[in-house]
Amino acid sequence: SNKEIEKALSQTPDLTKNAITVLEKRYLKRDISGKPVEKPIDMFRRVALNIAEADKNYDKDADILSTATAFYEQMAALKFLPNSPTLMNAGRELQQLAACFVLPVDDSLEAIFEAVKNTALIHKSGGGTGFSFSRLRPKDDVVKTTKGVSSGPVSFMTVFDAATETIKQGGTRRGANMGILRVDHPDIMEFIYAKEDKTKLTNFNLSVGITEKFMQAVLNDTDYDLYNPKTGKTAGKLKAKEVFDTMVQLAWEGGDPGIVYLDRINAENPTPKEGDIESTNPCGEQPLLPYESCNLGSINLGKYVKDGKIDWEDLEKTIEVAVHFLDNVIDMNKYPIQQINDQTKRNRKIGLGLMGWADMLAMLAIPYNTDEATDLAEKVMQFIRDKGREKSSALAVIRGDFPSFKDSIYPKMGFKNMRNATITTIAPTGTISIIGSCSSGIEPYFAIAFYRQVMDNNKLVEVSPVFKDIAKREGFLSDELLEKVAETGTAHGLSMVPEKWQEAFVTSHEITPFWHTKMQAAFQKYTDNAVSKTVNFPNEATIEDVKKTYLLSYNLGCKGTTIYRDGSRTGQVLNVGTKE
Ligand code: CDP
Repeated sequence: SNKEIEKALSQTPDLTKNAITVLEKRYLKRDISGKPVEKPIDMFRRVALNIAEADKNYDKDADILSTATAFYEQMAALKFLPNSPTLMNAGRELQQLAACFVLPVDDSLEAIFEAVKNTALIHKSGGGTGFSFSRLRPKDDVVKTTKGVSSGPVSFMTVFDAATETIKQGGTRRGANMGILRVDHPDIMEFIYAKEDKTKLTNFNLSVGITEKFMQAVLNDTDYDLYNPKTGKTAGKLKAKEVFDTMVQLAWEGGDPGIVYLDRINAENPTPKEGDIESTNPCGEQPLLPYESCNLGSINLGKYVKDGKIDWEDLEKTIEVAVHFLDNVIDMNKYPIQQINDQTKRNRKIGLGLMGWADMLAMLAIPYNTDEATDLAEKVMQFIRDKGREKSSALAVIRGDFPSFKDSIYPKMGFKNMRNATITTIAPTGTISIIGSCSSGIEPYFAIAFYRQVMDNNKLVEVSPVFKDIAKREGFLSDELLEKVAETGTAHGLSMVPEKWQEAFVTSHEITPFWHTKMQAAFQKYTDNAVSKTVNFPNEATIEDVKKTYLLSYNLGCKGTTIYRDGSRTGQVLNVGTKE
């Protein structure tokens, strides 16, 4: 009954003003006039109750309220938050709960426009889409039926871009796309330059799909072969170093293209018999098979620091509940098309990650740019992966393995059971970190105090609550201090802040690309999927600096790299981050 529910799900979520603003704008149920008809507490109840219902699929007498209570407590305490589509849509008509999709784009007009249609359906529901355009025949290739010539992958990408632009107004949030082209596609140079004009493909992030062969050719300074995907035949050669240098230069100029190591991703593909991975979702953290989708959720690490120590037991509890929650989301999701429903349920991938990493480090007084921090990153992520796998195995005993388990990598690794083909992913947490009032993903603080642009150009002033708490506790909090910090964004060089805390609150511009990359690699080591991370460069960084970072990320085992040089771009696909 309603009374019972209200009693069980009663803990009031401790939301900041910014969090409430964001929720009211897009997440809460509204009436026809646009007025919210639910409060944040109702949203968490709606989500908890809806997602708990999946338990009934496995036990018709399951105690839904007790599961819902466990889910609710984690969310209301802001310890764990699912990705935005789950918060927005669970328990409502749309019921589309996943953030990440990859759609195939085959080499025919029918297939291309089928993909455009499916993209529209996904964006309408708050999901993001990734595509590989590598199967499309190159520009100027013959089209048999018309005797004309093909316009090529880059040209077709503009169709997807225009569709996204149009749907933007009606959907729950701005749609985002990832476009990938293999480095051995004949149109690769056009692709690398595709966003040089900053007014083009504004709803796309671009990444070049890097092969091992190509990297070896770069390192040995040799040519490499291009292939026509239509015929499978070689279609010319390019000097690997020149292509690499151009990629680096364009990324230096404007951030695009990024790179993804496709061969490396496929070497770690957990279900190779199900097909090759060609693309990731828009922010790069989730490699997926064609027609696969994935739902994400993130643990807010700042909540687990008690008396200067990590409360591992409490963290373990959250991991268990989170894996249960995310597995349920797969069942409760209403997929936009049947193929996505089927492929998603064959592998049952989930993406459990974290946010509030900078908060955790600051609370422990560990500067982000140190070996101590990257060592701890490995330890924390290994813990999440191991406990996550334990829980997934335990679920599999009751619910069954994911259907493609037998041919997956897990039996060879010694696992008898597994419910999910992947368990860990590190998402950007652009919006849910505002709701959780924590630092986003594994990023360092962009600034200790700053303006944050939230949807529709609203600007909010923010001081890191962690900084405020610590300044108060350590006795150096003052109005003068906050004013000073808001001016420059950093506590560095302020005599009223003890040196230890100046260093613990190091901001992203004070951290070298080397440490940004090392941190990404530390987390990647224990992440099944990939890690969303931007390597920040100062405006005066050189092309050579960017090149060094690309080679470092390759050598350290990252699955991709995204860089941003300060001041190199105005509008971005995803502006929910920390940029002013
Ligand atoms: O914080 P939130 O759950 O809203 O999302 P995120 O962690 O910043 O982004 C996770 C994924 O959601 C991205 O990689 C995209 O696949 C998708 N996304 C999107 O499609 N459109 C956006 N405006 C933001 C995110």
